[in-house]
Amino acid sequence: MFDPVEKLAAFTRFPSVSADPAFQSGMEGARDFIASLLADSGFTVEVVPTPLHPIVLAKRDGDPTWPHVIIYGHYDVQPPDPLNLWQTAPFEPAVRDGRMYGRGAADNKGPLMVHLAAAVKVLRENPDLPLRITFLVEGEEEIGSPSFLPFLQERRRELAADFVLLSDTGSPNAEQIVITTGLRGIVAGEIEVIGPRSDLHSGVHGGAVYNPIQALAELCAGLHGPDGRVNVPGFYDAVLGVEDWEREELSRLGVSKETYRAFLGVNGFFKNDGYSPFELVRFQPTLEFNGIFGGYQGEGSKTVIPSRAGAKFSCRLVPDQDPIVIVELLEKTLRERCPPEVELRLRFGHRGAPYLVVPPGRSNTPADQPPTLARAFATAERAVARQFGKPPLFLREGGSVPIIADFKRELGLDSLMIGLFLPEDNLHAPNESFHLGVMAKGIEVSASILRSVAGAD
Ligand code: BES
Ligand code: ZN
Repeated sequence: MFDPVEKLAAFTRFPSVSADPAFQSGMEGARDFIASLLADSGFTVEVVPTPLHPIVLAKRDGDPTWPHVIIYGHYDVQPPDPLNLWQTAPFEPAVRDGRMYGRGAADNKGPLMVHLAAAVKVLRENPDLPLRITFLVEGEEEIGSPSFLPFLQERRRELAADFVLLSDTGSPNAEQIVITTGLRGIVAGEIEVIGPRSDLHSGVHGGAVYNPIQALAELCAGLHGPDGRVNVPGFYDAVLGVEDWEREELSRLGVSKETYRAFLGVNGFFKNDGYSPFELVRFQPTLEFNGIFGGYQGEGSKTVIPSRAGAKFSCRLVPDQDPIVIVELLEKTLRERCPPEVELRLRFGHRGAPYLVVPPGRSNTPADQPPTLARAFATAERAVARQFGKPPLFLREGGSVPIIADFKRELGLDSLMIGLFLPEDNLHAPNESFHLGVMAKGIEVSASILRSVAGAD
């Protein structure tokens, strides 16, 4: 018997934090676990080495004329800290109030288990199902998937497929599921401002030098205009408009601004230039500061001019912004604006392109898509309505899964993304959990999709 909840608990027990080498054995544990589970479920498994964390590739081959679905997921998770804020330990999964608590239970072990349980179910019901399935489970998603693109390029031929199926995105609540039609891209970077060759006494030298914290703060503050928009010339040039059907879908979200404000625990929303907060996170790009450092951080005060200061930032990009162009614009703007009295060092990290899929039948400008994809979308819509009691909304998402754009660019594959995270799941935060009711219904939805693509519904 394949008990998805029990399997999820076992999977979540492995501390597979890709960002921190101290968790290497947890990475190996999670990878071996998912590889064995796929092998035990009848798939032919290959663990593909990469410079960092291997990719698990598991196939159910068949007649080359059968449809072929790729199911994507990731076995790595975010670091669990701050540990003291967890009610139960992050890697000791516990079920409370119909949720499985644990780091990675939602992002992405639970949703991956949904699709695996569905595949096991449909193949058990129909061992001759005319469908090829390939699971691709990577271990570097939370650190920007550095090995995934070279892998796709190398395996281009065997990964020729009809579409990609995954659940690594969200929905507003357990009754209203979203089929994700777009993802934001990302560019992450670090600004460092270097001043005097060493920390200085702020009395002896204060006034004579440009304080690096001040220069950094001015640079950072200049990156947004008074209207709240990103103040980097050219930043918005490639931003696509929003289609009417997208606005209509968003109007059905069923979440009020006040509910969202209270959920966030803020006094009000950021200046918005006429956009609602719901539009901003889905349709507009951002530049956010993720960390800032410099000078004395200890108890009390210290009269010092620090020799350097820095900030980490990331931009979320929307279609058709190009991460390479955005990096160039940021470089140029920051170099031009940095005062000559200090030195500027810029480093760029993650880069991922935004993604947009036109749900078949919705747009005025229909895309050229394989009939299997249209069928999968239509079945997903019906199955979500049946299982969850309401038809899904087709909406773009604020988060990023950069490899989804790579699938499109490299292999021409679109993705069907069933949003299974809920706002209460606490992704990347303490007390992450996955809703087990959503899990059970999600399995039925995924099973319907697989049957329908195989023509067996
Ligand atoms: N599953 C998330 C992305 C996500 C979260 C999509 C919530 C929709 C709703 C994914 O694992 C993730 O966190 N991605 C990173 C990508 C980055 C590390 C390149 C992100 O969005 O910050
Ligand atoms: Zn994820």
